[in-house]
Amino acid sequence: MNFTLNNSPIAGVQTDCLVIGVIDETPLTGTAAAIDEASGGQLQRLLDSGDIETTWKERVLLHSIDGISAPRVLVMGCGDAAKFTPARFDELCAMAAEMLRDHVTTSAHFCFDQAHSIAKGFLRARELGNLPPNICTPAYLAGQAEQIADKYENVSFEVLKRKQMEELNMRALLAVGQGSANGPRLIVLKYQGAGEDEKPFVLVGKGITFDTGGISIKPGPNMEQMKFDMGGAASVLGAFEACVDMQLPINLITVVASAENMPDGKAYRPGDVITSMDGLTIEVLNTDAEGRLVLCDALTYSRRFDPAVIIDVATLTGAAVVALGHHASAVMSKHDELADALVSAGQQVVDRGWRLPIWDEYQVQLKSNFADLKNVGGMAAGSITAACFLSRFTVGMNWAHVDCAGTTWVWGSDKGSTGRPVGLLTQYLINQAS
Ligand code: BES
Ligand code: MN
Ligand code: ZN
Repeated sequence: MNFTLNNSPIAGVQTDCLVIGVIDETPLTGTAAAIDEASGGQLQRLLDSGDIETTWKERVLLHSIDGISAPRVLVMGCGDAAKFTPARFDELCAMAAEMLRDHVTTSAHFCFDQAHSIAKGFLRARELGNLPPNICTPAYLAGQAEQIADKYENVSFEVLKRKQMEELNMRALLAVGQGSANGPRLIVLKYQGAGEDEKPFVLVGKGITFDTGGISIKPGPNMEQMKFDMGGAASVLGAFEACVDMQLPINLITVVASAENMPDGKAYRPGDVITSMDGLTIEVLNTDAEGRLVLCDALTYSRRFDPAVIIDVATLTGAAVVALGHHASAVMSKHDELADALVSAGQQVVDRGWRLPIWDEYQVQLKSNFADLKNVGGMAAGSITAACFLSRFTVGMNWAHVDCAGTTWVWGSDKGSTGRPVGLLTQYLINQAS
């Protein structure tokens, strides 16, 4: 038996049989959507009429689909997306192969490339998330990003350390990192999958490799869970890898702001006033609200890429867990189209996001007597005021913020990284690419 990889448009692929998967209550995407379009909606009509079922292990062999060179299309039911594990994926491939082996076909083309790349991205994010904080430091994250870059020709890697950050006046990012022996890193990965003049999508991740709270130190119980405070960074790296693996026709840049938040003789303190890279001054009221400080400089830095869209992803607030629990990441944006696209991408892959407002009325909570703004907004609407803080650094940009504090790891006895929201981000970018 011979195996080959083929990335040409699906309608023209020469093979005895195309094999595709369909998922419960999920719109057609990727290859299935392409086949549907080439056939003038035939696939969707068969789904609507119940002639094709999405139930796990259901299968239908279709013949002579309009607009498709291959004479047959085998449609495999994938069932519930949440239950579609790598093991099920293997089983599905084996079932399809077995069925075709006993058939007249001598060649087949499996169109499961995207399910595969997203899995790769999830795996990357989970493995990074689960690593202990003595291993997964800012420098380690930079090394992992470099390894991703080394695997692909059209990916470049860059890392800024303290000295370069000082030259750029990234005082907010530096302040958070100044109490740790593991110095901060700003990590940049660039993928060119489209023309040079096409504006990039930019993903920015919070990469706090351990969050003690700093001088405003956190209580002891469960503090070890703050090793997952780089979940945003892990997910943007995972989504980046997934998109590059698929060679999506977009330009994509991932920026990770990484530091360790420690109490120390050199640590920043409540009362400090910091001048951010943007020039806005920030009064620190609580050193545990560190995520927004590393992100504000990363967002300012990202302006140089003139992003078409910029999305930051962060385990930013405990309040996001209070609001939405562990089922959805909080999505915040002033741009309805962007917020809607993120929420619906999340729904497609059952890695859900749910929108919260960031009306300007909340901004008064950030008013400071000593600086342009303060880094905490009080008891009310903690996730929203955190996003409002970030919004001050993204004026004029098509920006969204995703707070994944409740979704990126499982709490309690089954503790471990979920890799979320790799699925939401990757599906969003797939949708944008097509
Ligand atoms: N990393 C935490 C947010 C967090 C807390 C995520 C618990 C998941 C579970 C963040 O840096 C933080 O400490 N936020 C503070 C902000 C507050 C001081 C305004 C919070 O949410 O309590
Ligand atoms: Mn914190
Ligand atoms: Zn944090």
